[in-house]
Amino acid sequence: MSFYGSRYFGDIVHGELGKDLFRYHGFVMMVAVAVLVFVMYMGCVILFTKFSYRHFLNRQRLEFWWTIVPMLMLVGLWFPSMINLYYMEEVKRPRWNFKAIGKQWYWSYEFCRNLDTPSSSESAESISCYTIDSYMEDQQEMFSKGGYRLLDVDNRMVAPADVQMTAFVSSSDVLHSFALPKLLIKVDAIPGRINRLPMKASQCSIIYGQCSEICGVNHSFMPIVVEFIPEKYFVMWLEALN
Ligand code: CUA
Repeated sequence: MSFYGSRYFGDIVHGELGKDLFRYHGFVMMVAVAVLVFVMYMGCVILFTKFSYRHFLNRQRLEFWWTIVPMLMLVGLWFPSMINLYYMEEVKRPRWNFKAIGKQWYWSYEFCRNLDTPSSSESAESISCYTIDSYMEDQQEMFSKGGYRLLDVDNRMVAPADVQMTAFVSSSDVLHSFALPKLLIKVDAIPGRINRLPMKASQCSIIYGQCSEICGVNHSFMPIVVEFIPEKYFVMWLEALN
């Protein structure tokens, strides 16, 4: 996420899709600026020209083009957007399943290996599931450790980097929202319902996020921190936990 003094977007850790979305953003901006410049130019021409168009009644060809051109531009914006939307929901073949459950006011995480997809490490076969609760770090302790204020947690979620995963998000009480901007993830946590999203970090990183749905007095105090480490170490860490 963006921090104090940053003037640009935070780095996107979700490699392939992130690049596509970034490129699409640039494309939309390009079209928007072109339209703006053209409209301003025409406005100036109409304001300052000596010719008067008062008796100009109709011109079929002009009307045809000023309908068709904006339509084509909209199609040009819509098509790549649909492709991005499709890939953002595409759950490929995940190696790990990851569950985040929103609670008032903390997150609890469960990790399960996806048994349909073989893991690279055989020792992971024996591991089924584990659960951790993750609360916001106490202010006093946080200052002594030098973490980010209101963003660090006592138990960080740990996940393998560069591995396809699926995130399942749910809630056990009220609506929360699981948001990790750098990973392009934001999904509502709804009681009685499980939302599913693909999740992949293309590099080892520590990613911060916050609950993004007003869920009560401590809404601001249930941050999300996920540490992405190589899968080898992740499995070792899991084994140590079990
Ligand atoms: Cu949970 Cu806001």
